[in-house]
Amino acid sequence: MVSRKIEAEKKERSISHSRLRSRYNIGEIPKYSFPEEGIDSRVAYQLIHDELNLDGNPDLNLATFVTTWMEPEADKLIIENLHKNFIDHFEYPQIKEIEERIVNILAELFNAPAEARFAGTSTIGSSEAIMLGLLAHKFNWRQKRIKEGLPYDKPNIVFGGDTHISWDKFARYFDVEPRIVPISETRFNIDWKDVVKMVDENTIAVGVVLGTTFTGDFDPVQEINDSLLEIKKTKGIDIPIHVDAASAGFITPFYEPEFKWDFRLEQVKSINTSGHKFGLVYPGIGWLIFRDENTLPDDLGFNVNYLGDEMPTYTLNFSEGSSMIVAQYYNIIRLGMNGYRDIVKGMMENAHYLAQGLIKTGKFEVINKGNHIPVVTFKPVDSLKISPFEVSYNLRERGWIVPAYSLPKNAEHMTVMRVVVRENFTKDMIDIFVNDINRSVDKIKNRDLKINKMSPRKGHPVS
Ligand SMILES: Cc1ncc(COP(=O)(O)O)c(C=O)c1O
Repeated sequence: MVSRKIEAEKKERSISHSRLRSRYNIGEIPKYSFPEEGIDSRVAYQLIHDELNLDGNPDLNLATFVTTWMEPEADKLIIENLHKNFIDHFEYPQIKEIEERIVNILAELFNAPAEARFAGTSTIGSSEAIMLGLLAHKFNWRQKRIKEGLPYDKPNIVFGGDTHISWDKFARYFDVEPRIVPISETRFNIDWKDVVKMVDENTIAVGVVLGTTFTGDFDPVQEINDSLLEIKKTKGIDIPIHVDAASAGFITPFYEPEFKWDFRLEQVKSINTSGHKFGLVYPGIGWLIFRDENTLPDDLGFNVNYLGDEMPTYTLNFSEGSSMIVAQYYNIIRLGMNGYRDIVKGMMENAHYLAQGLIKTGKFEVINKGNHIPVVTFKPVDSLKISPFEVSYNLRERGWIVPAYSLPKNAEHMTVMRVVVRENFTKDMIDIFVNDINRSVDKIKNRDLKINKMSPRKGHPVS
């Protein structure tokens, strides 16, 4: 969301670029209004290219879960398919076919039961997948309540304080009461016993996160599944689980295949994952898989006939790029299970290597050393009395982007830093990073010492 630029900013309203202006004789280009005349394509390219140099380097962006590098062959396929609107299934049937193959592959990866007819779709990312999945659960709950002649005006959804903002968005945008299970001061995921206390006959679903955005922890999915099964048995209330596996969806099946988190658990009815996170595709692709096509109510699908044929659609957005679906398929056939396994193993090893490196400095307490996903969460040791925000800010000098943020309610007093160890964050890079963060802390400490030595009156150093 962008708001109108205020009057005082008007002096900055044109792009001036002396080098290009003198070479190509271009005039002022207004920044915040539509230019009357166009400019040469080379100049337009150069202007924008130069300005975007101010952005951070994506490879040094350790904050993002999102893929920043793909193989040149994937890049080629992406460019070749940029001009195909995914929604035009009639015109581009092969892209649709590829989407269907991927849905099948993921349903199998998530252990959809052989007897069930699963369903699924590509999305823009996990956020859209979460909204669509939860909408299906809301509609199912409502239909059931109507059928039983019961009130259906007070749906609620139970999820943890450790979930991503997209869960709060769903609750607010789609008018469902959020019942937020608190995390504890010392354990940064939810307790199944608290979940049990919050569910009732108006609960449309329970949300479980595998790989929280805050610390990378897993919610106790098996315990939550078992407790909901118990409620189903004893009270007759059948509450579905939606697993937010935005991160773990492409990690756990390869790293901990025996760990039961997916459709092997009876109450898990839908799962989302981000293709653009550890699915190793650039931004713009997520996946939603339903254990059973019957979980997707007819009311939510729309049929349109203005695309050349009768086409069902179940997405929030209509138009959508095709390239990332193609790129996801490229990775799947290029890497195979073994390729993903190797890459995931490498990322996990590197995460542990980073955690060890940080611990060895003696300056950091590691909160999550990459237990389930390659995400390391840490903070400067308390005795240093250094703010993680300051360390984060200082690291920018070397180009590293590492976020500092406070943990959710109940642990909000704790500010942590997080590094997502992606495929291209190699051991060499980790060594350099650990060296740099170590030096940042020393620099902050030395500066603090100097400030403390200053005269309190004028700020002159005490000699
Ligand atoms: C646990 C979790 N859920 C959902 C999301 C939203 O995913 P996306 O960015 O793919 O929409 C994120 C993003 O980081 C996440 O970490």
